[in-house]
Amino acid sequence: MYKCAIIMAAGEGKRMKSSTPKVLHKVCGQEMVNHVIDRMRSADIEEVNVIIGRGAELVKKGTEHKNVTYSFQDKQLGTGHAIMCAGEFLKDKKGTLAIFTGDAPLIREETVKRLLQFHEDNGFKATILTSRIDNPTGYGRVIREKDEVARIVEHKDCSEEELKVKEINAGMYCFDIEALRDSLGKLNNNNAQGEYYLTDIIGILKSENKKVGALITDFEETIGVNSRVELAEVERILKLRINKKHMDNGVTIIDPSNTYIGSEVKIGQDTIIYPGNYIEGNTEIGNECILYPNSRISNSIISHKVTIQSSVILDSKIGEETTVGPFAYIRPESNIGKHARIGDFVEIKKSTIGDNTKVSHLTYIGDAEVGENCNFGCGTVVVNYDGKNKYKTIIGNNAFIGCNTNLVSPVEVKDDAYIAAGSTITKEVPKGSLAIARAKQVNIEGWVERKGHKKSK
Ligand code: UD1
Ligand code: CA
Repeated sequence: MYKCAIIMAAGEGKRMKSSTPKVLHKVCGQEMVNHVIDRMRSADIEEVNVIIGRGAELVKKGTEHKNVTYSFQDKQLGTGHAIMCAGEFLKDKKGTLAIFTGDAPLIREETVKRLLQFHEDNGFKATILTSRIDNPTGYGRVIREKDEVARIVEHKDCSEEELKVKEINAGMYCFDIEALRDSLGKLNNNNAQGEYYLTDIIGILKSENKKVGALITDFEETIGVNSRVELAEVERILKLRINKKHMDNGVTIIDPSNTYIGSEVKIGQDTIIYPGNYIEGNTEIGNECILYPNSRISNSIISHKVTIQSSVILDSKIGEETTVGPFAYIRPESNIGKHARIGDFVEIKKSTIGDNTKVSHLTYIGDAEVGENCNFGCGTVVVNYDGKNKYKTIIGNNAFIGCNTNLVSPVEVKDDAYIAAGSTITKEVPKGSLAIARAKQVNIEGWVERKGHKKSK
């Protein structure tokens, strides 16, 4: 059966006290609404429509890479009104519509699939996802008659008796599109909040003797975020869920509550991760790596058996058995080879570094191509910027760059060349030669005593 989804994301999120729309706040590195869109996609839902209103342009921008369409809700007159605003999207459609909210990112793929399956297998016109909790304050209550769902009553509209009901509406549903379209016109806003409630559709369908179902799930999956405190709680839960998945796949995470891995990250077997690591975006980490404490690795490909410690690696590639850090900074578009060493206080920017090359300490390499088997002495600087333009430095294989060398770009150092310590290189260094580019040393005998500077007797 054809399946589409609507994600409600037009609300303001007042309690977040933020200039960013609520659904764009991130959990485990991704915006809440994008987590929800991903769950829809993984449940084989063909089209996803997002209802936007407050901060519409920002929400559009934050979700445009997800290939969704939008409906616009000018005024937030309630969840039922939000769905009315998707009239154009629903027009002429037949099949199943899933409705989820953009502020509840913990919903699992299996549960979305189970809800769709349960809805379609039973031929329900509407199916609601529910859960039971001890303190249902604030939630819509699921009122059953003879075990069957009869209606949903919002907290503010509940009678004494209804307030005692512990089964709550998760705010996640499946509808038969035609049945929903017919009932939307029958909604009114005669309730405590003066809003058009989507939840009233359940009672309407029931009063017309249409089949309505309910699927019960864990409360945890349905938690919605309304405040920063809830945002942190959801982050904690999703983080542990992600970390558990990696541990189940054979990754050692020494302290899962202090390890932050984005939902898209892939990690190979027998990699060991120490606390304080942030691994973000589309990062892939190979097998048998060791990530010592306190690194940030973003959108990068780390091969097998790499060791990293206290470093920042952004949009780059690191080859097998290479070591990085402590305190290295690898900036975007860098490609480090195999068995290489990028040591302490080294910054690499938009450069390739060949296999077996060692850049052990206190060095800046920017806009450079460096070959294999080279050795950089301490304190080398690639001078790639003249205040106006950036230039490239090219270094061949097996070069030896002495300590405290400046390589003034554009410049080339050919294979097997040596550079004497303290040189400022401005011209090509030919293959196999030694370049010395510093003033010759002059010793002036007896100078100290003559000038009266002598301290010792
Ligand atoms: C809603 C349900 C309630 C359920 C709860 C679960 C209704 C009437 N009530 O209540 O039964 O227990 O969710 O969390 O649906 N939104 C719009 N436009 C609007 C109003 C809301 O897009 O005009 C969006 C919000 O951005 C949010 C979602 O719909 O993402 C839910 O709205 P919210 O106001 O949070 O509903 P609740 O009062 O929590
Ligand atoms: Ca809510």
